[in-house]
Amino acid sequence: MNQIELIRVLPKAELHVHIEGTFEPELMFAIAQRNQIEIPYQSVEEVRQAYNFHNLQSFLDIYYAGAAVLVVEQDFYDLAWAYFEKCAEDKVMHTEMFFDPQTHTDRGVAFATVISGLQRACDDAQTKLGISSHLIMCFLRHLSEEAAFETLEQALRFKDQIIAVGLDSSEVGHPPAKFERVFAKAREQGFLVVAHAGEEGPAEYVWEALDVLKVNRIDHGVRSEEDPKLMQRLIREKMPLTVCPLSNLKLCVVDDMAQHNIRRLLQQGVHVTVNSDDPSYFGGYMNDNFIAIAEALDLSHEEIKQLAKNSFEASFITDHEKQKWLKQIDALI
Ligand code: ADE
Ligand code: ZN
Repeated sequence: MNQIELIRVLPKAELHVHIEGTFEPELMFAIAQRNQIEIPYQSVEEVRQAYNFHNLQSFLDIYYAGAAVLVVEQDFYDLAWAYFEKCAEDKVMHTEMFFDPQTHTDRGVAFATVISGLQRACDDAQTKLGISSHLIMCFLRHLSEEAAFETLEQALRFKDQIIAVGLDSSEVGHPPAKFERVFAKAREQGFLVVAHAGEEGPAEYVWEALDVLKVNRIDHGVRSEEDPKLMQRLIREKMPLTVCPLSNLKLCVVDDMAQHNIRRLLQQGVHVTVNSDDPSYFGGYMNDNFIAIAEALDLSHEEIKQLAKNSFEASFITDHEKQKWLKQIDALI
């Protein structure tokens, strides 16, 4: 079995995917049309041509504009269902997907509309595709603490459907500590917590996510390597990093995939996982991300298997479920 064949047959969990970032241009056009919303593009090709980013913000501007065509429950269902079909192709057997309620509630779409469309797709994915999932609600960090508190308040009604809260959007200038009190309240209410940190922002933001927000996982975290003390802490605590290779390349966090640090992190004992982040915008889903690093970094079969095992270990499924997947992976070759 070669690297690519191994990647295709390995069961995997995805822990870092923004459902709004799975919005393929074809579906965006179809939904815009049925909701009679104008989008500033003439064709799918024109949309794809606009996906040329030089940093996180240049991507976010386009990503929020695309999400603006999502209005009714069926739109959120269709969006999530299309992603689950990609999961099935890539043998992603479990996914923990982010959604950004504020992107929708700020346009007058009800929180209940968003979550019921997503939840219905999650239920269908379990019954029709055998794929399990959890929802993670992210606060937009460029917005205020007050707005995050309001969003948390709205989420309480749906507590049973949301496993964790997260933090995303423009990182630099919006450190994790800005949301210390919101995250404390979310933890009190029983939510697990994750946060984007160390994508464009410095290692200091990763420390804050750990010490101030008390996260269960770090999203991205690739800049942790700049701080040896932080590296020791991540290794000692077996703190998962949800790394997104194609995203890092597209947003110029790395210049070249051959320079990506995921293999070095893995070799040093950091609990890294592979994820797609915003696959429609960054050129590929889970297996494309695995293949990109396997080829650029010449990963061994053992390293590829370890990354797949890490994904289940770092997930929020039960220990019993984790053991089931780890055994299946060990049984391959
Ligand atoms: N929202 C969607 N993708 C993101 C990313 N890579 N970083 C921060 N916020 C995001
Ligand atoms: Zn992300």
